[in-house]
Amino acid sequence: MNWNRRHLLDVRTLSADELGLILSTAKAFKAVSSRAIKKVPALRGKTVVNLFVEPSTRTRISFELAAQRLSADVINFTAEASSLKKGETLKDTLRNLEALNADFVILRHGASGAAHYLARFARCHIVNAGDGAHEHPTQGLLDLFTINERKGRIEGLNITILGDILYSRVARSNIWALLRLGARVTLCGPSTLVPKVFETLHPGIRVSWNLESALKDADVVNLLRIQHERQRASAFPSIGEYASLFGLNATRAGWIRPDALIMHPGPINRGVEIESGVADGGQSVILEQVTNGLAVRMAVLFLLNGGQSSELGL
Ligand code: CP
Repeated sequence: MNWNRRHLLDVRTLSADELGLILSTAKAFKAVSSRAIKKVPALRGKTVVNLFVEPSTRTRISFELAAQRLSADVINFTAEASSLKKGETLKDTLRNLEALNADFVILRHGASGAAHYLARFARCHIVNAGDGAHEHPTQGLLDLFTINERKGRIEGLNITILGDILYSRVARSNIWALLRLGARVTLCGPSTLVPKVFETLHPGIRVSWNLESALKDADVVNLLRIQHERQRASAFPSIGEYASLFGLNATRAGWIRPDALIMHPGPINRGVEIESGVADGGQSVILEQVTNGLAVRMAVLFLLNGGQSSELGL
């Protein structure tokens, strides 16, 4: 199939074929990253702007590296030192970047829908790098890639997502991608962060407040950080209480099947949602996720630029 979208704004609207194309393209770019010469000319002459209005380590750096590996020019926009601080609007910021011939704007923003908003009038490609509690598409895609690479399939797998589901854009992008490809998704955490109403979104979603049962049947356990920056009211009495009831410690990790994967999008709060011994243990693929993020982001930029899978020998 050919890629027909100008922007990547969410995972929810991607078809199974589009997800499959991103996975196969990312696989080819992962192979490129293992070569002595890691650069390809696919985006030569193009300009990629990282417009991050919220903090980021993994996403911003891997988009920067992805663009460089594709031979694009890269501009890292620092919101704190920009004219956004003087009241310039996001729309005017985009217009000015386009006046400088930006071809791609990678947007991270605290407002849900910010990327969709810019895409309404953008002439360049917009990539959503996380918008509020809505979606984080490339995180969902790199998680999908990691699971598929390790397990050889998505269909029929039991995936438990544990933690702050209510405020997590990572959870939403994971849920839509996994359901589209036929996985079963269990959402687990405190009832204040995992409301039962999530089950009404899709028949493939189950809500469980019982940690042991949610862990023991899982092929994959994906842990989420508590999103303090988005919570309007405290969802639990204290961090210590959350860690004691839902933190993945060695005892609880023992409930997980030995062949199951333990994932986390980062940043990790060690001792809160996960203990160090588990985060750094043999079932953890947390750093593999980061590695795969580069290949997935190269694939996304390549496809949005009109790249054909035949160029990659697929
Ligand atoms: N997973 C993730 O989005 O990490 P960053 O916030 O560091 O980009």
